[in-house]
Amino acid sequence: MGHDPFDDDDVSNPSREPGIAEIIEARMSRRTALKGLAAAGAIGLFGCATPASRKAAGDAPLTFTEIGRFLDETHHAAPGHDVQVLIRWGDPVYSAGPPFKPGAQTAAEQEVQFGMDNDFIAFMPLPRGSRNSSRGLLCVNHERNTPHLSWPGMTATDYAKKMTREQCEVEMASQGHTIIEIARSNGTWRLVDDSRYNRRITARSTAIRVAGPAAGHPRMRTKSDPAGTTITGTLNNCAGGVTPWGTVLTGEENLQNYFTGDAAKGQEAAAWKRYGINGRGRYLWGRYFDRFNLDREPNEPHRFGWIVEIDPYDPASMPVKRTALGRCRHEGATTAVSHDGRVAVYTGDDARMEYIYKFVTNGRYDPDRPAVNRDLLDEGTLYVARFEAIGKMRWLPLVFGQGPLTPANGFASQGDVVIEARRAADLVGATPMDRPEDVEANPLTGRVYAVMTFNERRTPKQIDAANPRGPNNFGHIIEIVPPNVNGKPDHTAVECAWDFFLLGGDPANPAHGARYHGPVTANGWLAAPDNVAFDPHGRMWIVTDGQDDWAGFADSVYAAETAGPRRGITRNFFSAPRGAEICGPEFTPDGKTLFLSIQHPAEEKGSTYDRPSTRWPDFKEGVPPRPSVVAVTKGNGGEIGS
Ligand code: FEO
Ligand code: CA
Ligand code: CA
Repeated sequence: MGHDPFDDDDVSNPSREPGIAEIIEARMSRRTALKGLAAAGAIGLFGCATPASRKAAGDAPLTFTEIGRFLDETHHAAPGHDVQVLIRWGDPVYSAGPPFKPGAQTAAEQEVQFGMDNDFIAFMPLPRGSRNSSRGLLCVNHERNTPHLSWPGMTATDYAKKMTREQCEVEMASQGHTIIEIARSNGTWRLVDDSRYNRRITARSTAIRVAGPAAGHPRMRTKSDPAGTTITGTLNNCAGGVTPWGTVLTGEENLQNYFTGDAAKGQEAAAWKRYGINGRGRYLWGRYFDRFNLDREPNEPHRFGWIVEIDPYDPASMPVKRTALGRCRHEGATTAVSHDGRVAVYTGDDARMEYIYKFVTNGRYDPDRPAVNRDLLDEGTLYVARFEAIGKMRWLPLVFGQGPLTPANGFASQGDVVIEARRAADLVGATPMDRPEDVEANPLTGRVYAVMTFNERRTPKQIDAANPRGPNNFGHIIEIVPPNVNGKPDHTAVECAWDFFLLGGDPANPAHGARYHGPVTANGWLAAPDNVAFDPHGRMWIVTDGQDDWAGFADSVYAAETAGPRRGITRNFFSAPRGAEICGPEFTPDGKTLFLSIQHPAEEKGSTYDRPSTRWPDFKEGVPPRPSVVAVTKGNGGEIGS
């Protein structure tokens, strides 16, 4: 939420200012980093980049014609590509469902309609386990609400006085997740209205099981759930991931926005503070529902900020909060099967000066034994990233009883460690990053890409090897290279190499401090990278959130090869309608459809439901802008980007 007017939360990491020795080391690291980046395109800093002469995963040429810069009412795609609006906020997910009634939705209606502010998208082929690219389940997260774009008669400054109980309930029903079957014929996608898989999961009504070290923990117990094992709802579902066993992971991100009350008192006050919970949440749910009122339910905040696993192929299945993966503002969760079958899950904690985590399972993924895989995410080791110098990083274990994670520091169990993962990470010396959004492994190469969207509040004194600009207004992407074992990436490794993939901004403007591995065009440089996806050739597709603020043009989709002579050179593929961020990039297995989430169109200063800056995608008087999933295809049936 790059330009979200409500997202102006304080930095809640109290990490100390660096000492003088650290500053000198950081400056030296920065010089080395930039030198390394310039050289890496050709030879690689540590011998990992692909020689230009040998074809490798990620270096298939992108041949589409770049688009220009826009800040207008609609979307734009590279020539030869078609854009179909597949499903919009308020569209029924069952054929008998109620139609969208602008400005007059009820919570009961929203419970069976596509949710608000769609984010992460997974395309899960049908049948399960196949690579079918023309029929599957579209699994979509719903992250957030902007009241003055959802309801008539409100502005950004007066909505809090006006939100009714029913409107708050509509918000609760609009967050969470949607599963809907889709099919493609004659080049066009359609919703399969009466599919048995179609389902909404909401913050308002869906029961979710708690698993892992925090299940049943005293700090997870509330009046409505005295056992601390079943939670009503999942919320602020941002990005996510897909497991090798065919489930979807969804990240609960900005949990701090949901709780009202006096955050300064009570025995959880320090824990709330470390998670940015100040009792002045943007949502008014606590006015009508005790569980979002800190004074009434001090443990409720501990029940959000988790990774939730959903089995979209089993409509009767109960989603599960996998607490072993730690609690933070999870952007998403990306799995990678390691050399020995153990599974790593990478996740970013999207806030200024927060951390990057990975979880490694104890057990091994076995494609032939679904029962073994079902609860793999409950046992393993949680790690946090520390970037030591250019080329060298370490994953530090967050294990109860090890190092400082003991009763002397307020940790009585692994349950406490995962509930307060941020504080545990502070104590072991993790590296505070510039708002870590997506962390994604390239399935073809095993390299892991961590996206820092921007951090305008990092000061020059706070720069370090992995965050070399203060302020960082344009964001950057780090490439982590796990070691190879028998030719396969070892995602369990505690020591990895790394380099910069790019430092965003305009390389023609020296004040930006941008760096790419080669020349980008005037339309091809990016700002505020957020989510990334890989196409079947291992090329990276990057979507942005906040270019309008930092660069003056609408958020965009860029593509870049990840190896070869054009490695890391971004090209401009798609532009969003004004006020929108783009999320959820997802390809069908054949690379011929790219699904994109267009989130919060028209969210700009002064733009309201009554007078929005765009009415995308309906463009009808009286119909507000509607977040939607679009399907991008090639008119001639070819691969996206060709
Ligand atoms: Fe929901 Fe960090 O974007
Ligand atoms: Ca974002
Ligand atoms: Ca995001």
